[in-house]
Formats: sequence, structure tokens, C-alpha cells
Amino acid sequence: MAEKRGIGAAALRGRRVLVRVDFNVPQDAAGQVADDRRIQEAMPTLNHLRTSGARTILLAHLGRPDGKRDPRFSLKPVARRLSSILGQPVPLADDIVGIHAIEMSTRVQNGQFLMLENLRFHPGEESNDPNFAAQLARLGEVFVEDAFGVVHRAHASTVGVPKHLPSVAGFLVEREVRELSRLVTNPDRPYVVLLGGAKVADKLPLLESFCGRADAVLLGGALAFPFLAARGVSLGATKVEAGLEASVEAFLRRAAAAGTSIVLPTDLVVERPGAATPEAFKIDAIPPDALCRDIGPATCAEFREALAISKTVFWNGPLGMAEDPRFAVGTREVLAAMASVPGYHVAAGGDSARVARDLGVIGGFQFVSTGGGAALEFVQGLELPGLAVLPDA
Ligand code: 3PG
Repeated sequence: MAEKRGIGAAALRGRRVLVRVDFNVPQDAAGQVADDRRIQEAMPTLNHLRTSGARTILLAHLGRPDGKRDPRFSLKPVARRLSSILGQPVPLADDIVGIHAIEMSTRVQNGQFLMLENLRFHPGEESNDPNFAAQLARLGEVFVEDAFGVVHRAHASTVGVPKHLPSVAGFLVEREVRELSRLVTNPDRPYVVLLGGAKVADKLPLLESFCGRADAVLLGGALAFPFLAARGVSLGATKVEAGLEASVEAFLRRAAAAGTSIVLPTDLVVERPGAATPEAFKIDAIPPDALCRDIGPATCAEFREALAISKTVFWNGPLGMAEDPRFAVGTREVLAAMASVPGYHVAAGGDSARVARDLGVIGGFQFVSTGGGAALEFVQGLELPGLAVLPDA
């Protein structure tokens, strides 16, 4: 995709700058920030704004409060964490576009910050209400898009506000676009896609997009089950997403015609009632009481072989039930093997990055996207509304 006009060249000193950030971070049981990675990832942009003397007003969301005020989704803990990272106060304007927010936005001094309360407390955010967008825009003079994780949403803060103000991409968005574009435009070949997780129905469009673009797609996790079932494999007592036979068949035909090989597991690690430890079976010999939980050693070896000759790898989704260490072996082995292969390796999807971190194999990736849905849509080559609205460089 075309490069976007970036924050580096923007005049910022003394100006009120609205910055959309993705601070949708996990919280612990006490409502505190459990993982501040997304806040840390925005620091290059926030530090630049501070040293440039901008008067920064942060726009963010947390969770899905559905247009209603809900204290569980308040950005207070996020503002507190940001304030401790920056080492300076980050006041929170509780009424978003109300009288206090207006007053507080005029008091921000050069190099200082203000955060508005969760934009999704206002019904106008997700409905992209033009009045809400105009009210937000009036709080600033320049708009910076640095929330890559939400650029696939056409919300007031992502597509409404930039229509009113001179707009640029922040450093995080610039980097995401630059790195993920390497998967979309002329990836170094062979280009191998490694996909796991569940919810085949949700992932079919993503899979389709790799037909003719990737050289091979290696499938693991529950994602592989409907494909195996379509090939007549019996998966014992494993729950297989139903009603997908026709779409799966059609996809396999399209992939074959486009020259993209779809590589399915040839053995699986299963859990059985009464069995003390999990056991691997070839896919033509899965016992009727088995629950399939991970790819088996033969599949790991086949996946490793495909990765050994790859130049580009895109990974999303664990290859087994990785939350249980007994079934995380396949994911860990395959990603560890990938790490030793020179090439360009990208991971996307919030959960995927967490799994790779927990398994100690995150170091095998040259780039880990901060986006979940946004990154998956980007690598499909789709137009993302929050990027389309930004002017090209
Ligand atoms: C994310 O966490 O992926 C982004 O913040 C987007 O959140 P959403 O899926 O609730 O729009």
C-alpha cells in the first residue's frame, strides 16, 4: 500500500494534537493494566510529540462497553500507567466531548498530555456519528493516527475526525504498514503461511486470500479439523465445526487451481478418557473416544521441512490447545524450528503473540504486529478505512 504522510514532517509545536492510540490492553481481576505492551509501542510517537512541544490529547477505547458508560471499562488505570511511563501527569477528561473536556483541552501546555475517557462510552463512536466526530475534531488542530489495531473499524475517531483536520500517521502505524506490506507486495518466496486456532468460518476469507499469493499454507489447531473431516478423516470424539463441508471443498479446489499447497496434519496428539498421558495417532487411526488436541511429531517434521526452505513466513494461531502445556508442544517445536531459518517472519493477532511469548519463541519473529483483526485484514490485501482516509506521503 502507498506510504502515508507521517508525523515526522508535521509542525507540532504549540499545537493541540489529537492522537488516536490503541490502548485496548488486558486488565487483571482488580481492573489494573495486566500487560502494557500496546502503551509501550506508542512511546516513539508520544515521546516525539512531547519533545516537539505538542499539546497532546489522546483518544482511546477499552473493551466493548457498547456506547454506555461502564466503570469496568474506564481508562483511568490506563492513564495512570501512561503517566508513570512518561513520568508526568496524564489527566483524564471524564466527559469526552463535554464542557470539562473542552476546558481541559485548552489548558494543555506544550509537551503535556490529556486523555479523553473511553470513546466507546459515547454511542457516536462506533456508529461513526458525524456530530460526535466534529465535536472531537474541535478539541484539536492536527490528527495523528497511531492506533493500528483499530484502523479496520470505520468509527468516529478513525475515519470521522481525520476528515476535519490535517492528518498524519504516527510512527507505530508507519511501521505496521511498512512491515506488513512486505507480505502483500512481492513477498520473498517461498512464502509459507502457518495458521492455527479455531473458528474456521471466521478465517475462511483469510485463507481464501492466500490462494495464489502464498506458496504453502500449513494448517494446525482446530482450524485443520473441518479440512481433515472433508477428506474423510474420522476425528474420534473431537468437536468439529459443522456446516462447512461445501466451503472447505471449494477452498481446497481453488487453492489447488491457484498452485497454493494446503498442508494438513498427518498425525494428531489426542486425549482419551482414562489415559494417563496424551498419545499421538496417525489420522487414519484416531480412536473413537479421542479428543484431538495438538499436531503430532510426524506433522511437526513435515511443517519444519516446509519452513526450512521458506523465505517469508506469516503466522497466526496456535497449532494445538497451547493454553495446556501438554498440547503446546507442536506450536513450540514448529516456531522454534522456524526461528533457525533465515527469512522474514511475521506474527499477528494478540493471542498469537502472547502464546509465542509464553512459549519463549517470540524471538523467531522479525515483526510482531500490534493488530489483531486489523493485521489479518491488512495481510488479506483489504482496504482499511482508517488508513484509506489518511493522505499519502
Ligand atoms: C483490538 O484489541 O484488536 C483493537 O483494539 C480493536 O478492538 P475491537 O475488536 O473491539 O474493535
